[in-house]
Amino acid sequence: MRSLRDFDLKNKKVLIRVDFNVPMENEKIIDDTRIIETLPTINYVIQSFGKAILCSHLGRPKGKRSPEFSLKPVYEYLKKILKAPVKFLEDLTEDSVDRMIKELKEGEVLLLENVRFYIGETENSIEFAKLLAKFADIFINDAFSVCHRVHASVVGVANLVREKGIGFQMEKELKYLSKVVSKPERPFYAVVGGSKVSSKIGILKNLINKVDKLIIGGAMANTFLHAKGYSVGASLLENNHLDTAKEIMKYAKEQEVKLYLPVDVVVERDEDIMEIGLAEITEDDKIFDIGTETIKLFSHALEGSKTLIWNGPMGYFEKPPFHKGTVALARKIASLPSVTIAGGGDTILAIKLAGVETAFSYISTAGGAFLEYLEGKELPGLKVLKS
Ligand code: 3PG
Repeated sequence: MRSLRDFDLKNKKVLIRVDFNVPMENEKIIDDTRIIETLPTINYVIQSFGKAILCSHLGRPKGKRSPEFSLKPVYEYLKKILKAPVKFLEDLTEDSVDRMIKELKEGEVLLLENVRFYIGETENSIEFAKLLAKFADIFINDAFSVCHRVHASVVGVANLVREKGIGFQMEKELKYLSKVVSKPERPFYAVVGGSKVSSKIGILKNLINKVDKLIIGGAMANTFLHAKGYSVGASLLENNHLDTAKEIMKYAKEQEVKLYLPVDVVVERDEDIMEIGLAEITEDDKIFDIGTETIKLFSHALEGSKTLIWNGPMGYFEKPPFHKGTVALARKIASLPSVTIAGGGDTILAIKLAGVETAFSYISTAGGAFLEYLEGKELPGLKVLKS
């Protein structure tokens, strides 16, 4: 794949696929990380006298224009932080696009309104891709986090443009993640949490082929514990995936990968919160976190790793006091002298809650794409840039 540095950008229209899918509340940006991460690419384009055209989605408006998903707040924000004129194109029609192309000058920035206001985006329609391609003498994808989507602004437009490559944020993501996928320094350990085994079967199986230890926590551990014969009371459980859990445990054994599960848990029983051993879980108990013994077990197991990846919280960390297990583990991972890589929306929030974001080697801004990449899948948004 070509890098942004490989192109002569002067006076060129550079369509940059960014991911400005940032959390918002009452039209205010709550976390600007994804915007900040793309600034090196945007600034490079304008400083090279190119015309930077930014396109992104926000949320899942399903082809309908809806104010809560407008990128206007991002436009206001960009005007404040960029040292260049910034424009906003609300309507993506043939006429408005042609007009804007005539108006846009070198060194200027144009933000397009949420591409998912148009059904052609998620349907990857050729018409919508062609409309976007009008903005692209060069197409740069700087949004690793959407590369698992076969959408017009990711795949369709890239198919239509000859001059294409990746931006600096994407380069950074691939530098860390590709190393983990192909040549991790060993011992290589993985910590996987979150609520569903079903959404992570692929990643768990692929990780067993690669890691030396696999630590499983969060509500998905319940399904493993139940598959081993423990009652998990009234906790989240995927009964239809008990066999999957058994298969994964069997496969780990065959591959001589040490698999760790919780040995004690924090439950809510009536109005009380208590820490108990697995054998003490009663019918109505709801497991919301890992217990102290599990924190010790997992922390000890993580010692000595050279590479470590983490995805998914250990419990219902959004609701104190059930944050304790996740926060303790985040701090433990952050304290390790190994290459530590984390990804996924919840995981990033948990790391921030633990206040250790600067201690990680790399935190991916991607969620679904991070998981699919680690599963070993070829992401369509990357594949198309190679063609
Ligand atoms: C993400 O938040 O992971 C990306 O922005 C992709 O969003 P999506 O899951 O709505 O495609």
